[in-house]
Amino acid sequence: MPATASFFTDLVRTRHSPRQFLPTPLPAMDIRGILEDAQTAPSNSNTQPWHVHIISGAARDTLSNELLKAYEEDQTSPDFTSDYGEGIYRERSHQHAAIVYGARGVERSDREGRTEVIRENLRFYGAPHVALLFMPVLGDGVRTAGDIGMYAQNFLLSLTARGYRGIPQAVLGVYADTVRKSLGVDDELKLLFGIAFGIGDQTSPMHDINMGRIPLQQSVVVHDTPGVLDNR
Ligand SMILES: Cc1cc2nc3c(=O)[nH]c(=O)nc-3n(C[C@H](O)[C@H](O)[C@H](O)COP(=O)(O)O)c2cc1C
Repeated sequence: MPATASFFTDLVRTRHSPRQFLPTPLPAMDIRGILEDAQTAPSNSNTQPWHVHIISGAARDTLSNELLKAYEEDQTSPDFTSDYGEGIYRERSHQHAAIVYGARGVERSDREGRTEVIRENLRFYGAPHVALLFMPVLGDGVRTAGDIGMYAQNFLLSLTARGYRGIPQAVLGVYADTVRKSLGVDDELKLLFGIAFGIGDQTSPMHDINMGRIPLQQSVVVHDTPGVLDNR
């Protein structure tokens, strides 16, 4: 395997979502570099529909407090639904929740413990920076959302390459009006998700959660492409 491929394979397989960060802020030049890397993402007809707000310091603390207040007051205002239906995707989402709660030592019956996990999300897991990813609604929004997914993965891999970590957070989108108001964002821009980022706290049991993946055979069908899915 060429060195660049091996580097990329290591990079993409090392990336994971930590749920505890150190408070140390990142150098501005690194955040700039990460944004420049993310900006190279492909998009439909090169529309580049991502509108990104980066928050740190007082802006970060203020938004976190406003999100916690919105949560306590049940002031939800999601721009998008999070419905996994009744089948396999719901099952996987439950398995994922069991792993996250398990790593934190929270039982399924422990309501306060589960509430605290949501609060931890709204504290951005202690991350010093958050990127909020907004999008214009063009048509049914699906292609735009796909483009922003591309942007987000570039962002996450750039963080990883620099020794940092990030976690996408759809939960922030549950309080879209709160976020828009706090950042002075127009109602026309919809909040897809945020990415909390910084230096992962490697001493935390919430840092290295291995979510696992389903085998390729459950995701990929090959046509006239022998050998690809043979057992190795
Ligand atoms: C669009 C998106 C939204 C997510 N939202 C949240 C979230 O709100 N809170 C959270 O703890 N993790 C969130 N995650 C992280 C996923 O749980 C995580 O990516 C998945 O379990 C796979 O784990 P890994 O990223 O460590 O490989 C989100 C991931 C994506 C891609």
